[in-house]
Amino acid sequence: MSVLNLLNQKHAIENHVQLREIADGMIIAEVANQHALANIALQGAHVATFQPRGEEPVIWLSPLAKFAPGKSIRGGVPICWPWFGPHQTDSKLPGHGFARTVPWELLDTKALEDGSTFLRFGLIENDTTRAQWPHPSTAQLEVTVGKALRVELVTANTGSAPFELGEALHTYLQISDVGNMTIRGLEGCEYIDKVGATTRRTQQDGIVIESEVDRVYVNTAADCVIEDKGLKRAIRIHKEGSRSTVVWNPWTEKAEKMGDFGPKLHRDMVCVESGNAMENAVTVAPGETHRLVAMYSVEKL
Ligand code: BG6
Repeated sequence: MSVLNLLNQKHAIENHVQLREIADGMIIAEVANQHALANIALQGAHVATFQPRGEEPVIWLSPLAKFAPGKSIRGGVPICWPWFGPHQTDSKLPGHGFARTVPWELLDTKALEDGSTFLRFGLIENDTTRAQWPHPSTAQLEVTVGKALRVELVTANTGSAPFELGEALHTYLQISDVGNMTIRGLEGCEYIDKVGATTRRTQQDGIVIESEVDRVYVNTAADCVIEDKGLKRAIRIHKEGSRSTVVWNPWTEKAEKMGDFGPKLHRDMVCVESGNAMENAVTVAPGETHRLVAMYSVEKL
């Protein structure tokens, strides 16, 4: 029996989950329930799409995204783990860690009483990941697809020494146009501005994007709300176990260089990432489990 058939036999649930192979070796868990539609790639446990029924998509996926083994997918919810950004000591290691480009296994699927669907994925270690991250640990992603999307990244330290973890749910949110939106919730917060020479600043008002933005807001716990005048809706991002929020839009020049953005697509998205980055990296003690949660829901504006 093929891997796909075996997966479907074990995890498919009528009116909830179906596994499909969309390209060579790329298997997607397709979720369709009474509340929403979502696609999650087994590579990277990468939530690629999320659309509540009757709504525009909430999560943005680049129409030029590549679904290929070992390549990260442009859009959706890439998992940055076990470090965020460049590796602290070895610049040859992949930016944002390896979790988003390695296979994960589907461990569990459940139809919940309220009509939502629950899925749990576990990162599969290999010799390369162990060489890059020699700390005994496990990473699991729990996803609940309902009216809202809930994503929970669970890291357990299974060894006998503490380790320092950097992480983020690098979520791409869909907006009508970058000129129509304001991000609220970070007013008064300090941020590290990574555009040009790194500087430290304080956010005064809501965030409006009119050029490249690459900022790590530190010591933040509040919800963020993306107000979108074009779609007359707001996307609320609630988070737990997270002290950093990253806001990113590559703007024209950088986007054009990337190959999976094109000249205009950056106007349709903004990344608001919930995580623990830079000075907010977390220490996970032996035997301890750390949980990073983000929840995405839509409100009328
Ligand atoms: C953001 C970083 O989180 O991710 C940016 O702050 C980076 O510096 C961006 O360019 C995209 O990263 P990648 O590796 O997915 O192209």
